[in-house]
Amino acid sequence: MSRVLVTGSAGRLGRSVVTTLAAAGHEVIGVDRTPGTPSEAAVALPADLTDTGETFEVIARFRPETVIHLAAIATPFSLPESVIFKVNTQLAFNVCEASVALGVRGVVVASSPTVIGYGAPGGWAPAYLPIDEDHPVRPWNAYNLSKVVAEQTMKAFALAGTARMAAIRPCFVIPPEEWAGAPTQSGHTVRERLDRPEIGGVSLFNYIDARDCADMIAVLAEALPELPNGEVFFAGAADALARKPLADLLPQVVPGTEPFAAGLTGTTPAFSITKAERLLGWQPKRSWRTELKEAV
Ligand SMILES: NC(=O)c1ccc[n+]([C@@H]2O[C@H](COP(=O)([O-])OP(=O)(O)OC[C@H]3O[C@@H](n4cnc5c(N)ncnc54)[C@H](O)[C@@H]3O)[C@@H](O)[C@H]2O)c1
Repeated sequence: MSRVLVTGSAGRLGRSVVTTLAAAGHEVIGVDRTPGTPSEAAVALPADLTDTGETFEVIARFRPETVIHLAAIATPFSLPESVIFKVNTQLAFNVCEASVALGVRGVVVASSPTVIGYGAPGGWAPAYLPIDEDHPVRPWNAYNLSKVVAEQTMKAFALAGTARMAAIRPCFVIPPEEWAGAPTQSGHTVRERLDRPEIGGVSLFNYIDARDCADMIAVLAEALPELPNGEVFFAGAADALARKPLADLLPQVVPGTEPFAAGLTGTTPAFSITKAERLLGWQPKRSWRTELKEAV
């Protein structure tokens, strides 16, 4: 049993992370600008973590062993670009700085696969497929640039202190209510994303069940002392959110993928989770085929 502080605990991913960690016997402190409905967190606390003083205060008060940093403006272009950049980079800096200064042992920071740069209006093509953690990053908007900065911030504090740190790049997160028909982060239902490939195609049909992502975060947090410090991991489903093989679909909806898509046969996704499987022994348990039963 350990004490874990989760930032962004009321969010789409945060709720599953709180539930998963609490079920595993951890004492969970949830912190969010808008804590929302009561969850399974031992404490759900309102705080604006862009404020350095509030961030130090909340970590000093609870002295967690581990901090899972999920708080962010999570939807690209949902606010002015300057606001998204400022908020997300300030959040990552404050949480990493306060964690290291206050002796937190392990920190996991949420980044995003968008750092790869897909969807750029000026054109984008992968260097290879499937994309792994060695693929070059090519940020082109405030959101994915802020996530590159968040990763670098995590790496800088990993070098500067004694905390063990890592970042994850969760694919498009789908919590239980969205399998049941609630709108996803893009405003479309999961079924619409499957039926209209042009929607999910922009992000190369990536996705992950929120509970699988929470499991991955829990395993990663436990493994931090044994891992090289400052690692980055993709967290994705074992398949693509698509009805056809990406070898057929990707070249139709994402120009530039033609030379590399042929290997994505069957249900193979565009993002590799081999690193998480190899270093963490983690594998996703859920797929749209198991969760969206009536749609297949
Ligand atoms: N949802 C996805 O598909 C996805 C994909 C890749 C990465 N991510 C990243 O994962 C993390 C969680 O995403 P999510 O989908 O749960 O997002 P979400 O928007 O559902 O939740 C984010 C939470 O952060 C909180 N927050 C924002 N600003 C804050 C502040 N100043 N202080 C305290 N709390 C603040 C919000 O109130 C919200 O509850 C984010 O960092 C996001 O960028 C999400």
